[in-house]
Amino acid sequence: MNFPDYITNTDDYALLDFGAGRKLERFGEYIIERPAPQVNLSPQQDNWQPDWVYSGTRVTDGEWLPQHDGLATDWKIKIAGQVMHCHLGKGGQLGIYPEHVACWRWIKDRLDGHYADELKVLNLFAGTGGASQAAVLAGAQVTHVDAQASQLELARLNVGEKGARFIKENVMTYVERMVRKGERYHMVIMDPPSFGRAGKGKVWDIRCDFEPLINYLPQLLMPDCRGVWASLHTQAMQAEEIAHYLDKVMHGASQPIQLGTQTKQGKVLPAGVAAVWQDDSV
Ligand SMILES: C[S@@+](CC[C@H](N)C(=O)[O-])C[C@H]1O[C@@H](n2cnc3c(N)ncnc32)[C@H](O)[C@@H]1O
Repeated sequence: MNFPDYITNTDDYALLDFGAGRKLERFGEYIIERPAPQVNLSPQQDNWQPDWVYSGTRVTDGEWLPQHDGLATDWKIKIAGQVMHCHLGKGGQLGIYPEHVACWRWIKDRLDGHYADELKVLNLFAGTGGASQAAVLAGAQVTHVDAQASQLELARLNVGEKGARFIKENVMTYVERMVRKGERYHMVIMDPPSFGRAGKGKVWDIRCDFEPLINYLPQLLMPDCRGVWASLHTQAMQAEEIAHYLDKVMHGASQPIQLGTQTKQGKVLPAGVAAVWQDDSV
């Protein structure tokens, strides 16, 4: 599969414009304006007409403001062939990361037509379940792990109960238990934040915890596994750094990937980094 794979208009989703620390996107029937702190160029248009605006200059200091009456706070859209719930959440989140569609496509590409009796996929920091839905649609049994109840609630709506198990737990605690039990998977996906809390004093800190998590991979993967995807939506690491960590334990050629979305006019909004490892001979 060829990367980079910036996500352009797909079904009901479109990146309409961005600039001056903001972005304008269509999520189905609504146009949404929210922060994009990584961009300081000027926007292409000066007449943005959003339905919902997330105020504030950084993702943590705002609130959702309706621009007229009669707007829903929850609705559904079709994006990259998948039906997903939009929900106006904390920090300007909507429950969908459009740049992560690159991951959904990779999952489909790696799983479609792979006839294991039971294709097992482990999705860590799985959030609202776009990647889990992609794996279930490709015929896999997914273990979806996330520490936040609100994320799991949306994931259940997006993925459904058939083909998926939802686990509310700290990722490291869960992975260490599965390693002790000798559980193995055909694919591992991980999309961690830079920093996250998981209750009972457990925290995730990418600088200390990423490499130990990656080091468990050889003990989590089946011999005929379909691959590993690891991504970040922040600037905490370079794509090459993630690929380097994967290469160290998987002894293979991992591929670094730049994530982002792009407007119809081809302007790219960078939105994180990733790396994949796959053995094409399997
Ligand atoms: C970048 S988001 C993942 C988004 C996901 N790819 C999606 O499509 O919704 C990171 C997720 O990690 C979860 N998280 C943060 N720290 C965690 C931890 N220690 N253990 C489990 N989940 C954690 C958050 O609740 C959040 O859903």
